[in-house]
Amino acid sequence: MEPNSSENASSNIISNGIKNNKMIHENHLYRTSYHFQPQQNWMNDPNGPMYYKGVYHLFYQYNPDGATFGKKMVWGHSVSYDLINWIHLNHPSLQPSHHYDIHGCFSGSTTIIPSNNQPFIFYTGFDETKHQVQNLAMPKNPQDPFLREWIKHPQNPIITAPIGLVEQENFRDPTTAWKGSDGKWRVIVGARNGDIGKAILYHSDDFVNWKLSPNNHEFYVIDGIGMCECPDFFPVLIDGTKHGVDLDYSSVQDSNDVIRHVLKISYQNKQQEYYLVGKYVCDEDKFVAENKITGTSLDLKLDHGEFYASKSFFDYAKKRRVLWGWVKELDTEQDDILKGWAGLQAIPRQVWLHENGKWLMQWPIEKLETLRDSDNQVSIFAHKLVFGSTLQVSGITASQADVEVVFELPELESAEWLDSKEVDPQIVCSDKEYASRSGIIGPFGLLALASKDLTEQTAIFFTIFRTPNGFSCLMCTDLTRSSLRQDVHKTTYATIFAIDSNLKAISLRTLIDGSIIESFGEKGRVCITNRVYPLLATEKDAHLYVFNNGKQNVCISKLNAWSMKRAKFVQQ
Ligand code: FRU
Repeated sequence: MEPNSSENASSNIISNGIKNNKMIHENHLYRTSYHFQPQQNWMNDPNGPMYYKGVYHLFYQYNPDGATFGKKMVWGHSVSYDLINWIHLNHPSLQPSHHYDIHGCFSGSTTIIPSNNQPFIFYTGFDETKHQVQNLAMPKNPQDPFLREWIKHPQNPIITAPIGLVEQENFRDPTTAWKGSDGKWRVIVGARNGDIGKAILYHSDDFVNWKLSPNNHEFYVIDGIGMCECPDFFPVLIDGTKHGVDLDYSSVQDSNDVIRHVLKISYQNKQQEYYLVGKYVCDEDKFVAENKITGTSLDLKLDHGEFYASKSFFDYAKKRRVLWGWVKELDTEQDDILKGWAGLQAIPRQVWLHENGKWLMQWPIEKLETLRDSDNQVSIFAHKLVFGSTLQVSGITASQADVEVVFELPELESAEWLDSKEVDPQIVCSDKEYASRSGIIGPFGLLALASKDLTEQTAIFFTIFRTPNGFSCLMCTDLTRSSLRQDVHKTTYATIFAIDSNLKAISLRTLIDGSIIESFGEKGRVCITNRVYPLLATEKDAHLYVFNNGKQNVCISKLNAWSMKRAKFVQQ
């Protein structure tokens, strides 16, 4: 009997799926071309990024035994001269070896001691009793430019969990340490006690012997979040420039008229990066945040997509602060095993404080632009997008691209009314096929990794609203049509932010690389990073479009899109 047409369609999808599985395995479909990833196996958090004697180091949580999270996690290690092209070192810098880390070398940071330029790794050991403890390691040969081998400190474990204060099995991820004006070293360790997340502060005179801060050891306590993973604490200038500052900034230490501090926590229950901006009083070990974590759309997050366990460092070479973040897979574990790898790092981002002092700005590091292929570039200027229009951006490899677009807005007064002070942007955007509904100012934006017939597409778009407080912009990345595959996670990610009533244009930059889409809205004020696994829209069969489904025209005042060259990754 002939199969009917729906059986035909589904058998096509299944055979595509089988073909796809084969491709996943043989051709590394979904591998990226310019994002950091090891050659194989599982990777999660970025660990201890640093710039040392002309070389950038990136360590990362790595399972050398397979493509799933491992029972004996190690610190993988890669080095680079520019943060884009990498040498993967064959030897992990840390692997389980002693009673204090036998079940895994978990996340941590590096600190460079200014007086003798000595780098230290501060990391969490998962010990023989399955408690988490903090350990130190030093380079075996400081003359080796790549610092390939690390030796563990004889006094490890350096810090054990303060009993009664935190759970011993949830006490991890030490930050980069810094020295206060009183000459004491300080470090923060993430912890939990029940549902209470904590950032615990320690003091030391010599970097090896640590005790709870006598002033205020519960540096930050947040109820209801669970574990406070991967805390990061760093200063930012308030002068609106993009310059970074080091944590060891004794000259400006208590200068709240020059700097603010950022405390970032990886909110385990939500798997997202929340941050607080505030004033830090070093002598009192006090951090007074100017915003709160409320569980609403007002919260500040580094990224509203899949971006977790981030870690920043001060780049001495370029005097900037650079942020790394892990982007996990949204396919199945079975796929990861087939692919033989899982996990990416987002493109390193420069981060700085917006001139209004309220939120961070983020932008892919400049060096990424050297991968733009000037022979495969498209520009569009002054193109009006009328209601319901879709414009194809042809002439680039749309599966491996960097796209920058500025949309000129109509008068905002005509925008749709959103009758609430507090909305959940994800719920608004999750309304079925939100990107293709007709609005007034928007939805407008990009369709990335789209198939020719648009059955597969990932929409990244804006919609402008009038709200009780003025005007707001909703930014979404909609994955619901990103793949014909049924077995991958396809949801909608969104954020809403207040905009000025005089706003005349809004910008979007989107980095597309095989199975990752990273978007930076409004010059880097908001970011949404995601993973997608198209069946049709791959390699040369991927397309890029600009669209407007708002009744008001929007104008592409400028669009530049480039195919991206491959970054160099070598194994050594
Ligand atoms: C965050 C995290 C850290 C931990 C590491 C283990 O993703 O859970 O808290 O140190 O991963 O790999």
